[in-house]
Amino acid sequence: MKRFNKVSLSTPEDYFMINLIEQENFNHIFTTKYLDFNPHNDSGITKCLVYRESGLCVGYVIFNHWDDQVEILMIGVKKEMWNHGIGSTLLREVKRYGLIITIEVRASNTNAIKFYEVNDFVFSHRKEKYYDNNEDGLYYIWKKN
Ligand SMILES: CC(C)(COP(=O)(O)OP(=O)(O)OC[C@H]1O[C@@H](n2cnc3c(N)ncnc32)[C@H](O)[C@@H]1OP(=O)(O)O)[C@@H](O)C(=O)NCCC(=O)NCCS
Repeated sequence: MKRFNKVSLSTPEDYFMINLIEQENFNHIFTTKYLDFNPHNDSGITKCLVYRESGLCVGYVIFNHWDDQVEILMIGVKKEMWNHGIGSTLLREVKRYGLIITIEVRASNTNAIKFYEVNDFVFSHRKEKYYDNNEDGLYYIWKKN
C-alpha cells in the first residue's frame, strides 16, 4: 500500500513515541538524546523525520546531511506496524535530501538488511567488530540514478 503526506520533521511532542519505539526495537534510547544534544531539526545537519498515523508517531528516521550526502543514524517503526511500507516511505523522503545515502547495520539484523536491499541500497563493505559486542557492521550505500 502506498502512503502519502504523513511524513514531517519531528517535534518534541513526538519524543515520547520515538522513545517507546526505540525501547521496543533496541532496548535503549538514542534518537531523542541525540536531538536534545543537537537541537537543530529545521536548520542543522541532523534531522529527524516522523511518520504519523492519526497524529501519533509510529515511525521515525534520524540522519545527518551535508552537501549531497546523507548518513542515516537510526530508523525504526513501531513493531505492530512493521511491513506496512512505513519504513520505505520514510526512506523515500530521506532520499530527497541527498545524492548518496549511507547506513551501517548489524550483520545479524537480517530484517533490516532485506529492507535496505528492497529499497535499492547496495552492500559496500564490512567493518569487523564495529559494534560494542564485537559484532561486524555492514555498510550499505544508495546512490541517486
Ligand atoms: C527495518 C524497519 C525500519 C523496516 O520498516 P518497515 O516499515 O517494516 O518496512 P517496509 O514495510 O517498508 O518494508 C519494505 C521491505 O523490506 C522488507 N522487510 C521489512 N521488514 C521485514 C522483516 N521483518 N523481515 C523480512 N523482510 C522485511 C520486505 O521485503 C519489505 O518489502 P515487501 O513489503 O514488499 O515485502 C523495521 O522493521 C524496524 O523498525 N526494525 C527494527 C529497527 C531496526 O532494525 N532498524 C534498522 C537499524 S540499522
